[in-house]
Amino acid sequence: MAKACLATFILTLLSLSAILGTTENYGGRKAYIVHILKSMKPQQFNSHRHWYASMLDQIVQSDPSAKEMLYTYGTLLHGFAAQLTKAEAQATEVMDGCLAVIPSSLNKISTTHAPEFLGLSSSSGLWSRYSTYGKDIIVGMIDTGIWPESKSFKDEGLGPAPTGWKGACESGRRFDSSNCNGKIIGARYFSKGYEAQNPTPINETLEYKSPRDNDGHGTHTASTVAGAAVSGISYFGFVNGTARGMAPQARLAI
Ligand SMILES: *[C@@H]1O[C@H](CO)[C@@H](O)[C@H](O)[C@H]1NC(C)=O
Ligand SMILES: *[C@@H]1O[C@H](CO)[C@@H](O)[C@H](O)[C@H]1NC(C)=O
Repeated sequence: MAKACLATFILTLLSLSAILGTTENYGGRKAYIVHILKSMKPQQFNSHRHWYASMLDQIVQSDPSAKEMLYTYGTLLHGFAAQLTKAEAQATEVMDGCLAVIPSSLNKISTTHAPEFLGLSSSSGLWSRYSTYGKDIIVGMIDTGIWPESKSFKDEGLGPAPTGWKGACESGRRFDSSNCNGKIIGARYFSKGYEAQNPTPINETLEYKSPRDNDGHGTHTASTVAGAAVSGISYFGFVNGTARGMAPQARLAI
């Protein structure tokens, strides 16, 4: 559940930036994402959409075509996107229920710079102001397993698994309880369904019947979500930087 939410959140932000980035400076206007506190909706509006439309109508005085919302958001954050002038954006910021007005910007995807891409830094923005970096959150990953020796899964400073954690650390080929730690607090594997449907036995030279990740995909996704910071990571010297998960304090149940 937690994984799904975080993944959706990241994807949402990625698509917002990617889509809205192209709409900058349209007719002297720029795309902004207006983040609204959902619970502030006045009674007279049937839906949030009506409320947002009315806000936009008040904000945009001159240009009727700018009264169209680009998007409305109602799942992980609430609000809308619209093309505003700088003055209109400032006027929006002080309206009742408005949490933030964020200008769209054009960004490029590159793994070690993903936090910058998302506007996250340890000195400013959401990460520094509100985030606990996933502290006390356990992220369940259902994927191809984990390569526990990766530096992304060091548990420095994390302490033992949170109290109340009931997960297991299962053993299998090249994986035992010593491969779990304060980061990988649980690891299990599920091969019975596959084996029941495939008469040919699993070739254990090619595949680990254990939580160990033969493929690499599960290791990639787990480190993307909750990997610790590992500096000096590059692709043959390109995009050298620090690789880290978006919630580096979170624990993993693989
Ligand atoms: C398992 O895979 C290896 C490597 O491809 C191969 O050499 C071996 O013959 C396979 N074993 C079986 C039982 O199919
Ligand atoms: C990457 O950056 C680190 C720290 O700035 C540096 O020590 C390292 O040599 C760099 N690696 C490459 C491949 O450029």
